[in-house]
Amino acid sequence: MQRIKTIETVDKANQEVLLKGWVNARRNMGKIAFLDLRDRWGIVQVVGVPSELDAASQEALKDIRPEYVVAIRGMVQNRGEKQINQDMPTGSIEVLAKEITVINKADTPPFEIENEDRQANEELRLKYRYLDLRHERMKNNLVIRHEVMHFARNWLKDNGFIEIHTPVLTKSTPEGARDYLVPSRIHQGKFFALPQSPQQYKQMLMVAGMDRYFQIAPCFRDEDARADRSPGEFYQIDMEMSFMSQAEILDLVESMFTTMIKTLFPEKKLTFDKWPRLDYQEVVSKYGTDKPDLRENKEDPNELAFAFIINFPLFTEQKADDFFHGAGDKWAPSHHMFTAPKPEDVSLLDTDPGKVRSLQHDLVLNGWEVGGGSVRIHDPAVQEKIFDLIGFSDKQKAQFSHLLEAFKYGVPPHGGIAPGFDRLVSILAGERSIKEVIAFPLTGDARDPLMEAPAEVATEQLVELGIKIDKQK
Ligand code: AMO
Repeated sequence: MQRIKTIETVDKANQEVLLKGWVNARRNMGKIAFLDLRDRWGIVQVVGVPSELDAASQEALKDIRPEYVVAIRGMVQNRGEKQINQDMPTGSIEVLAKEITVINKADTPPFEIENEDRQANEELRLKYRYLDLRHERMKNNLVIRHEVMHFARNWLKDNGFIEIHTPVLTKSTPEGARDYLVPSRIHQGKFFALPQSPQQYKQMLMVAGMDRYFQIAPCFRDEDARADRSPGEFYQIDMEMSFMSQAEILDLVESMFTTMIKTLFPEKKLTFDKWPRLDYQEVVSKYGTDKPDLRENKEDPNELAFAFIINFPLFTEQKADDFFHGAGDKWAPSHHMFTAPKPEDVSLLDTDPGKVRSLQHDLVLNGWEVGGGSVRIHDPAVQEKIFDLIGFSDKQKAQFSHLLEAFKYGVPPHGGIAPGFDRLVSILAGERSIKEVIAFPLTGDARDPLMEAPAEVATEQLVELGIKIDKQK
């Protein structure tokens, strides 16, 4: 007999079925035991009546506790009017067990799977993440993540985009955070950097003629964790297009997400049918932030207020901890150093760089920044000028020589955006932290308590890499 999903029992009244899954809960009523059987698709109530079972099944039933993995063969039967549970997708039926087999026993879990209180103990949840993910809310979050990812993929494909993998072992890409470094064995003393984003590759793909690129791209940034920020890796829906104006790029992004929300989340309400494009200075003076929460009703969990912020200043005053460019210089790029100035402001680069506005665009949603991008510089002379203004030495400039070199061979005007996938999904799932929508996230101090990563490595591995550890703390 073929195993079916718990949810498939609903329309199988008076039929015999085989179910396999975990025991979510057990309730005893005299000699009768009620088991809630859980699989990925839901929960169904199983009734264990000793007189209906063979001897082996009766023994198995006595023993069964929550989280045991079991197989149940039984008859689906409609519940009596009073027993119908409207809150449960399978609440109109139950399964009268005929044969019960314990496939695997389970120790008592370190926390109750169904108990929301355990949220307080992050360490324990992450150490036993495979149990944490058994919770319905967590499972649903991963399903939402999967749906959003596949919708974006299909929509982009249908709209002429091509998905291209760019390298994970690469060279530092300056997005404003520290890099994760990977030592090279073959080239001792040299390091790969994990990409903070595929920024330079996607620009070179435009030079290659791969107009309309996208990638659900892993990005790695060694930065401090926050509710909306992972301290290690996260994903972007990374996109780049050629020959498109900023307005056209924003229209395309708006169209993708509007269709996505209407298709996947019909219960959600968009505050704006046409998303506003707001001027950075005006937004900051009006709301005191460049990520305003524009919802009409901030208590409504289903309201989504998307907006684009444009006209950012190209530069901000450099801070002491802006470590990726020349120390002591005045200007740091507000977004990144490949963002184009607005054409009408280019002449100000020589006279008043602080006043230059850029073709950067941020996507904000309910007070969070869920995406950033820009139209890029495609004039090598302007790129050089930006490098000079941010105080790049010749050595630092040389690190980007490949991009300037590529630009010599026929570069199309191009631009793009990278919505932060985890952030977006966490808002759509109604979660306050991005950790709730990541299967195996790191702790706030960048550790994985389950795998115990990061970890020390064998001395032989260090010898091969030519590395000696000199611990500072
Ligand atoms: P930016 O650095 O603005 O742009 O990143 C784009 C979006 O990625 C998300 N994000 C993060 N999500 C989780 N954890 C993090 N640590 C984290 N850091 C960023 C945010 C952010 O808006 N290459 C450019 C994009 C471009 O210009 O096309 C880039 O990476 O939602």
